Amino acid sequence: MKRIVLGLMVMSAFVWAQTPKFEYVGSNRCKACHNKADQGAQYAQWESTDHAKAYETLLTEESKKIAEEMGLTVAPEKAPECLRCHVIGWGDPSGYKLDIPEDDMRAKRANDNLAAVGCESCHGPGSEYKSKKVKDAITAGEITKESVGLKNPTVEDCIICHNEDSPTYKPFTWEEKYSAISHPYPKNTE
Ligand code: HEC
Ligand code: HEC
Ligand code: HEC
Ligand code: HEC
Repeated sequence: MKRIVLGLMVMSAFVWAQTPKFEYVGSNRCKACHNKADQGAQYAQWESTDHAKAYETLLTEESKKIAEEMGLTVAPEKAPECLRCHVIGWGDPSGYKLDIPEDDMRAKRANDNLAAVGCESCHGPGSEYKSKKVKDAITAGEITKESVGLKNPTVEDCIICHNEDSPTYKPFTWEEKYSAISHPYPKNTE
C-alpha cells in the first residue's frame, strides 16, 4: 500500500512538472507577425482601441476621483483594485507587477509592455504560441491551440472585466461591443 501511495506521489509530481507553464510576453511580441495590412493588421487595430491605453487611463484626474470616492489610500495606478482589469496578467507571476526594481531596466521594459489590456488578456499568455513553428504546427493540425494556451475569445473572456465590479460599468453585450475590437483576417470577411 505504502509503495502504491509513494508511486502515485512521484507520478503526480512528474505530471505537474510536465504541465506547460504559459507566461505573458506583451503585445509588442505579437507585432512582427500580426501587423501586415493584407492580413488584417491586428496590432494596429488593437492599438486604436481603448484597451491599448487602459493603463494610461488610471493616471487621469477622473481615475483619481474614482479611487478617492472608493476610499483607496494609494493612487489608482498602484491599486490592485484598479490594476486587475487595466493591465495584462494581474496576479500571475509573469503578469504586470508593481515591485520591479528601479535599476532592472530589462524587467522594467518587459513590465511596461504589460501595461495595457493586450492581446494576451483575451487570447491567453503567449510564451508557447508566439513562435512561427508552433503556429505552423497548429495550422497543419499537428497540435491544438489549447495545448499551447491560445484561445479564440468568447463573451466569457470579456466579462471577466466587463462586469459590475468596474466602477464605471456600462452594460455589456457581445453584439454591441464586438465590432469595436474586431480584427479578422481579410479572407474571413469576404
Ligand atoms: C513569428 C510569427 C508570429 C508571432 C510572433 C505571433 N504569431 Fe500569431 N500567428 C502566426 C501565424 C503564422 C498564424 C497562422 C496564420 C494562418 O493560419 O493563416 C498565427 C495565428 C494567430 C491567431 C489565430 C489562430 C486561429 O487559428 O484562429 C491568433 C489569435 C494569434 N496568432 C495570436 C497571436 C498573439 C496574441 C501573439 C503574441 C503573443 C502572436 N500571435 C504572435 C504567427 C505569429
Ligand atoms: C483584462 C480586462 C478586459 C478584458 C478581458 C476585456 N476588456 Fe474591454 N475594456 C477593459 C478596460 C479596462 C476598458 C477601458 C479602457 C479605457 O478606457 O482606458 C475596456 C474597454 C472596452 C471597450 C470600449 C468601452 C466600451 O465599453 O464601449 C470595448 C468596446 C471593449 N472593451 C470590448 C471588449 C470585448 C468585446 C472583450 C472580449 C472579447 C473585452 N473588451 C475584453 C478591460 C477588458
Ligand atoms: C472588474 C474590472 C475593472 C476594475 C476592477 C476597474 N475597472 Fe476601470 N474599466 C473597466 C472596464 C471594463 C471599463 C470600460 C467601461 C466600463 O466600465 O464598462 C473601464 C473604464 C474605466 C475608465 C474610463 C471610463 C469611461 O468613461 O469609459 C476609468 C476612468 C476607469 N475605468 C478607472 C478605474 C479605476 C480608477 C479603478 C480602480 C478604482 C478601476 N477602473 C477598476 C474595468 C475595470
Ligand atoms: C478584447 C479582446 C481581444 C484582444 C485585446 C485581442 N484580440 Fe485577437 N481576437 C479576439 C476575438 C474575439 C477574435 C475572434 C475569435 C474567433 O474568430 O472565434 C480574435 C481573433 C484574432 C485573430 C484571428 C483572426 C481571424 O479572422 O481568424 C488573430 C490573428 C488575432 N485575434 C490576433 C490578435 C493580436 C495580435 C492581438 C494584439 C495586438 C489581439 N488579437 C488582441 C479578441 C481579442
